[in-house]
Amino acid sequence: MKLFDPISIGALEIPNRIVMAPMTTRFGDKDGFPTEQGIHYYSARARGGVGLVIVEMTGVDPGGSHRRGELAIHNDAYIPGLQRLVEAIKVGGARAAIQLGHGGGQALTRVTGLQSVAPSSIPYAVFEMMQETHVPKALTVEEISRLVERFSEAAVRAKRSGFDMVEVHGAHGYLIYQFLSPLTNKRTDSYGGDVEGRARFGIEIVRAIKERMPDFPLIFRISVDEYAEGGVTVEDSIAVCKWLEDAGVDAIHVSAGSYLSSYSYVIPPMTLSPGCFLGLSEAVKEVVSVPLITVGRLHDPYLAERAIDDGKTDMIALGRQLITDPDWPNKVREGRLDEVRKCLSCNYCIEAMRDGAHVECSLNVEVGSEWLRASDTKQGGGE
Ligand SMILES: Cc1cc2nc3c(=O)[nH]c(=O)nc-3n(C[C@H](O)[C@H](O)[C@H](O)COP(=O)(O)O)c2cc1C
Repeated sequence: MKLFDPISIGALEIPNRIVMAPMTTRFGDKDGFPTEQGIHYYSARARGGVGLVIVEMTGVDPGGSHRRGELAIHNDAYIPGLQRLVEAIKVGGARAAIQLGHGGGQALTRVTGLQSVAPSSIPYAVFEMMQETHVPKALTVEEISRLVERFSEAAVRAKRSGFDMVEVHGAHGYLIYQFLSPLTNKRTDSYGGDVEGRARFGIEIVRAIKERMPDFPLIFRISVDEYAEGGVTVEDSIAVCKWLEDAGVDAIHVSAGSYLSSYSYVIPPMTLSPGCFLGLSEAVKEVVSVPLITVGRLHDPYLAERAIDDGKTDMIALGRQLITDPDWPNKVREGRLDEVRKCLSCNYCIEAMRDGAHVECSLNVEVGSEWLRASDTKQGGGE
């Protein structure tokens, strides 16, 4: 199967084309350090045979944490814990990436204790354990430059922690996408206006990382269609993807949707068809030559294989399917398809998490207790 052919991102070879999509777990401690529970959760997915694990959105700035229990990478104190996480992923044979993000207007003062910031000072409706509408402060040009630096400093820390690459979170309605979307970017300076101005912040982040570490592979995740009236269009994203390639990205990760979409595209529920974003990646593929990763209900191995075979994408990312069954890649490679526990796309995982619990699964009760089941800590049976 093509799914199991190696592929390179930058100069780095990935053993197969299956990627674990970044997914917030809330397994971080209250200050954003990895915990044993989180490390074992990731290790179980890496041992399941995935080629590349992208660790969940991790905060590059203390003011950008959008959930309690979110991982952080905004100072050197985080490096030892992240090193342990990387080791646990690599023992399983997978390559390790980490997603660098900033919540922008989705980050609440109630969570961070700091002033929330965004491209423009407009109301944001945020759900973090409860609904709240707040108005963040508009970033000044000096503050924007400082945040560009924060992203590049975080990328250096990721490399020092042993990660093979970073993913910049430019999707789903967080700070970089808030700049890109006309719905959240009302600026009249060089960071607003036409798509070139709105894309500037993300492009500057890519350039800043590449300036510090030209050979360190970088993935950029983008919601190609915001699926919102007046929001980011496919045409906008196609232009942005070309600029991203010129700026030096080594791969583009195609996703869709934001908090302002007309429907829940970010985490497509069972009502959206399997492979729902393949049309978007096909459109991007026509204009860039770096490898594409595509996500979105690609949980059926035949569909995933065909997406690569038909040239619609180069790698497929699995999100919820790896929460439900961490061993999906090994089972598919070994032809044990009848043993795959199939994700329902019921979205219990994300609902549980938004309500304040760590990530959970309606079909996999072991999520979050992998550390108790690890061979060195295993207890006897009983009620
Ligand atoms: C519990 C949960 C947490 C998520 N957290 C993130 C995240 O931190 N960063 C991100 O870019 N996407 C996040 N996503 C979206 C996934 O990466 C993925 O794009 C989405 O689940 C669709 O893929 P799937 O159909 O294979 O699940 C999250 C999804 C879930 C279910």
